[in-house]
Amino acid sequence: ELSPIDKAKFVAAKQASSYVEDGMKVGLGSGSTAAWLVKCLGERVEKEGLKIKGVPTSSRTAALAREVGIEVISLDEAKWLDLTIDGADEYDGNLNLIKGGGGSLLQEKIVATASDQMIVIADASKQVETLGTFPLPIEVIPFGWQTTKTLVEETLIGMDVLGRKVTLRMNGDAPFYTDEGNHILDMHLNRIGNARQLSLIVNQIPGVVENGLFIDICDVVIIGFGDGRVESRD
Ligand code: A5P
Repeated sequence: ELSPIDKAKFVAAKQASSYVEDGMKVGLGSGSTAAWLVKCLGERVEKEGLKIKGVPTSSRTAALAREVGIEVISLDEAKWLDLTIDGADEYDGNLNLIKGGGGSLLQEKIVATASDQMIVIADASKQVETLGTFPLPIEVIPFGWQTTKTLVEETLIGMDVLGRKVTLRMNGDAPFYTDEGNHILDMHLNRIGNARQLSLIVNQIPGVVENGLFIDICDVVIIGFGDGRVESRD
């Protein structure tokens, strides 16, 4: 028996898995909601003989996809994808997102951008009026990361945000490393007034590789509820 939150994630994932058709190249997201999607797709591969190629957005998703029998290829082999299905940490009424709570935002953004369509799956708790309650992650090169952090803090002074604290993401006592060997800075902004502008400006700081704002990338959000209901926004 699933807890209400797991049930919500599962029903959203299950609904999204029905968008996948034979012959598709599919971007496979990361995180606990996307893990349900990978399992649902694995079941379709096993039971229906669904033929798909999956491009994972993290090493963890790659391992899970192989485990459930999905053929895994690299983005360079795929070149272009029909569909990406991924979770999110927040989504707003314009379907703009914050992602990267799990630290995979760089691959997630590359893969989603290379897809004809991006579907986000989430439980209703991820919905916000304005983005920014969830700390916005940015992926930075380890070289000179403290200088990069200072530059980020200075840049935030001119921006339409409520908080400006920036913290290095840790893994126990050591800095967290992404799949690409980078660090993550979490920006505690509380409210992001102009997400598009913030995304553009932050990405111009040397040392910043990418940020977790997904603007105009997501096409549909499928929202699951603890009682098994599903709604979608597009
Ligand atoms: C991973 O880097 C994130 O972007 C995830 O998609 C996001 O954190 C959602 O994760 P959950 O589905 O576990 O909430």
